Amino acid sequence: MFVDVRGARKSFGDVVVLDNFSCTIEPGMVTALVGPSGSGKSTLLAAMAGFQQLDSGQITYRHADGSVEPPTPQRIAWVSQGANALGARTALDNVMLSALAAGAGLFAASRSAETQLEKVGLSDRMHTLAKHLSGGELQRVGFARALAAAKPLIFADEPTSSLDAANTDQVAELLHTLRETATIVVATHDPRLVETAHAVVHVRRQHVPGAA
Ligand SMILES: Nc1ncnc2c1ncn2[C@@H]1O[C@H](COP(=O)(O)OP(=O)(O)OP(=O)(O)O)[C@@H](O)[C@H]1O
Ligand SMILES: [Mg+2]
Repeated sequence: MFVDVRGARKSFGDVVVLDNFSCTIEPGMVTALVGPSGSGKSTLLAAMAGFQQLDSGQITYRHADGSVEPPTPQRIAWVSQGANALGARTALDNVMLSALAAGAGLFAASRSAETQLEKVGLSDRMHTLAKHLSGGELQRVGFARALAAAKPLIFADEPTSSLDAANTDQVAELLHTLRETATIVVATHDPRLVETAHAVVHVRRQHVPGAA
């Protein structure tokens, strides 16, 4: 699925964040959104996900058959930093929840959760409570949840910001695997993720009141 951003404008008060911004996100690849802190990466990602209204401009999801639809949060998996996991539940429970929420039955959800945890290299941590997992493992639980929900778009905001080099590499590898089934967009400052992305979209800092 393509994501088309056309003439996007967004301000918060007198802070102009997006000023006539356009880009096309293509399926089958990992796209990195890069730019200085405060340039609007998270705002753009949230707008692409349908969580954030633009002041003007358009964002549409374009299917292979050419049909388009507005951004719909139901179509996306949002992988937040730290994965928003329930600490007192196991990795398996956390991933199952997402399959259940997507409409799977209990048995199917459990099987799907196991499969996805295997894919992200966590088969041996399935029954560990989330609060006992490392930052990198939690991040991978977040991606397993995205997979279990079988969404065509995966958006991740700074998915490696709290990870060491080895875990960052694992997340970068994982993203490459996921692109076979989903369109992936990551907002990131991480040089390793940028280097391994297939496409890079630069978001520039716009007018900041009081700045030279
Ligand atoms: N809900 C909001 N209300 C007011 N201002 C906001 C809001 N969300 C974002 N901003 C402002 O919009 C600008 C862009 O923020 P955004 O979080 O999109 O930047 P970013 O590129 O993701 O930064 P970082 O790299 O630090 O995560 C910032 O100046 C921020 O203060
Ligand atoms: Mg951000």
